[in-house]
Amino acid sequence: MTDQTATITLGDTSVDSPVLKGSVGPDVVDIRKFYGQTGAFTYDPGFTSTASCESKLTYIDGDEGVLLHRGYPIGELAEHSSFMEVAYLLLNGELPSADALAHFDNTITRHTMLHEQLATFYRGFRRDAHPMAIMCGVVGALSAFYHDSTDIQDPHQRMIASHRLIAKMPTIAAMAYKYSVGQPFIYPRNDLSYTGNFLNMTFAVPAEDYEIHPAVERALDRIFILHADHEQNASTSTVRLAGSSGANPFACIAAGIACLWGPAHGGANEAALNMLREIGRPERIPEYIARAKDKDDPFRLMGFGHRVYKNYDPRATVMQKTVREVFAALKVNDPVFEVALQLEEMALSDDYFAEKKLFPNVDFYSGVILSAIGFPTTMFTALFALARTVGWVAQWNEMISDPAQKIGRPRQLYTGPTQRPYVPVDKR
Ligand code: CMC
Repeated sequence: MTDQTATITLGDTSVDSPVLKGSVGPDVVDIRKFYGQTGAFTYDPGFTSTASCESKLTYIDGDEGVLLHRGYPIGELAEHSSFMEVAYLLLNGELPSADALAHFDNTITRHTMLHEQLATFYRGFRRDAHPMAIMCGVVGALSAFYHDSTDIQDPHQRMIASHRLIAKMPTIAAMAYKYSVGQPFIYPRNDLSYTGNFLNMTFAVPAEDYEIHPAVERALDRIFILHADHEQNASTSTVRLAGSSGANPFACIAAGIACLWGPAHGGANEAALNMLREIGRPERIPEYIARAKDKDDPFRLMGFGHRVYKNYDPRATVMQKTVREVFAALKVNDPVFEVALQLEEMALSDDYFAEKKLFPNVDFYSGVILSAIGFPTTMFTALFALARTVGWVAQWNEMISDPAQKIGRPRQLYTGPTQRPYVPVDKR
């Protein structure tokens, strides 16, 4: 709280609203009593000016291109940390000691197997089902299998559910992939790292060994770090809203996966690579830039622009570097990377993108890396969901523990018909 108040005058009524101060970032006007005092609602479709909750997890300064998890810059975490360590940090608030990390890693490792009955669940899907459709269904179904971790009032059960979700998500995603290509499911292996295990479950086959390339394992782990959390984005807000009614964690995370799937959110990584492949050659870039600028054309540059970042997305910087590392390690070169680099350069020197402050976001380069590793485009958003599960469960836990938490129940500006009498069908 600050000494300041914000005064809003509506007709003859003036309301003083307290101004709250975060540890960093914009002040927040507390309008909780506004409706009671004035009888009016505030209007903010898309929540462009609304803080929906208090949080200690992630801070973004979109103008400066800053992203901090529990205070630590994303660039430093991507460079020096591991996904398991970042998961611990987001869930528990501090970086772990070596012992605490080993214990956490072991706990997650021992939750990676799925109830065997869930394998039959997969067989109900068509082989050409999108992995995100399978993920929504299977993750939602976990609540039918793990009854012992759905009491949200019990902090111990909440933590077990969180560990289960983080641990089982790679298994669920890898099985979605295996099902789509008609290969047998590969069980998790406790001797592998979180990310190595996911690579193995995705690419190994019983007929021969799969060798995990250390550079690929490291690159994918870094991609997971870059996607771990991102403040109150659409899917995280969905998880919080679903959880605000007291729904169980598996159902809430399934809701988050559904929201993430959309092309304006997590689905943009798949859409971005499809777009780059469609452009195909640098000579065609101006045509696509012109389309993106054309108000009468719904086309947008996928992987470009962000609600919060009005500067280079710090995650995109790390992604671009990672493309080069993966290409060097695998001795591959995909011409689509050159298209991406030139598209970025041309867009950034164009007045339209400069004026609207549209920069590459995390999804612009991630598809190039994932494709080089061998993932089909349909798996890209599933990988995003896998990593974001850490943020979702951390935010969900924070919400449930917050004494100010209430069921999320927005109001509206109603513009439909006013009351009118029902007309029987023969009189219409
Ligand atoms: N290409 C062309 N024009 C764009 C783009 C783009 N990618 N993004 C925004 N604009 C224009 C938009 O037309 C609008 O112009 P005007 O003011 O003249 O109407 C202006 O920029 C502001 O756009 P907005 O849609 O009002 O902004 P928003 O904050 O509601 O949307 C966004 C943010 C990410 C949905 C949008 O930039 C977009 O659709 N980008 C492409 C999809 C994408 O890459 N999404 C991944 C986001 S990062 C990963 C994640 O967090 O999920």
